[in-house]
Amino acid sequence: MSAVVLGGVRRGRVRPRPRVPSWALKVVMAVTGCVFALYVVVHMIGNLKIFTGAEHFNAYAHGLRVVMEPFLPYEGLLWIVRGVLVVSLLAHVGAAPVLWARARASRGPHARTAMGLRSFTARTMPVTGVVLLGFIVFHVLDLTVGTGGVAPETFRRATTEQAFAYENLIASFARPAVAAFYMLTMLALFLHLAHGLWTVVSDLGVTGRRLRAVGYGLAGGVALSVMLGNILILIAVLTGVLS
Ligand code: HEM
Repeated sequence: MSAVVLGGVRRGRVRPRPRVPSWALKVVMAVTGCVFALYVVVHMIGNLKIFTGAEHFNAYAHGLRVVMEPFLPYEGLLWIVRGVLVVSLLAHVGAAPVLWARARASRGPHARTAMGLRSFTARTMPVTGVVLLGFIVFHVLDLTVGTGGVAPETFRRATTEQAFAYENLIASFARPAVAAFYMLTMLALFLHLAHGLWTVVSDLGVTGRRLRAVGYGLAGGVALSVMLGNILILIAVLTGVLS
């Protein structure tokens, strides 16, 4: 701590800025990451309902908006979920660069050179994270808000009576550039989610080798299932199975 001298008068001491401890930031990353993991798993399972046909899928999308009425207003539960996701996103995106910079500073020039899937996913976390962030903005404008220039021209916004999620999704994925972007993002999601969940398993401090292996396997399995489930929908639209 250094003393401040203003006009020859000592004005007390400059305190270093309070530092949030790294363990607290890691807890924030793990908890908010798990919120997202849960969301993408549930979302992917919901997305797969598209294979049950337009009527069912639109009824499901409408159901999400009116669930728990009249205890909750129209879209009440959706807004609660949106609130949790936005807060989680802000905390996750806020803590990530701080932890990344601290790890980099403490590692110095002695970076690990090991290769392998875990090492690759670890190194690409900032890149896959930024891709996912861009994707989330695009995706919400594309299929929820229906912003011109992003959403398909035929986009129809849900009303209190009806949702058009099926038609909107088919029209969106029928655009090759958009389908390619979604495909690429699903790969980024796999890498990001797998590494995030592996880190959670590792930080949980599971000691048994077998139990750790099961944890890592489960984490990888969840990430792989989310990617494959969503890619299945993209392929089905691109091949005309869904139209
Ligand atoms: C190919 C993969 C995906 C498909 C087919 C898909 C499908 C959809 C559809 C159809 C909607 C609009 C739902 C409605 O209007 O009721 C939607 C909304 C949304 N999706 Fe996805 N999604 C995919 C991947 C993702 C991923 C990876 C994330 C998160 C990282 C995500 C996050 C969201 C969010 C936040 C919304 C807005 C929900 C709302 O507030 O109403 N989606 N998605």
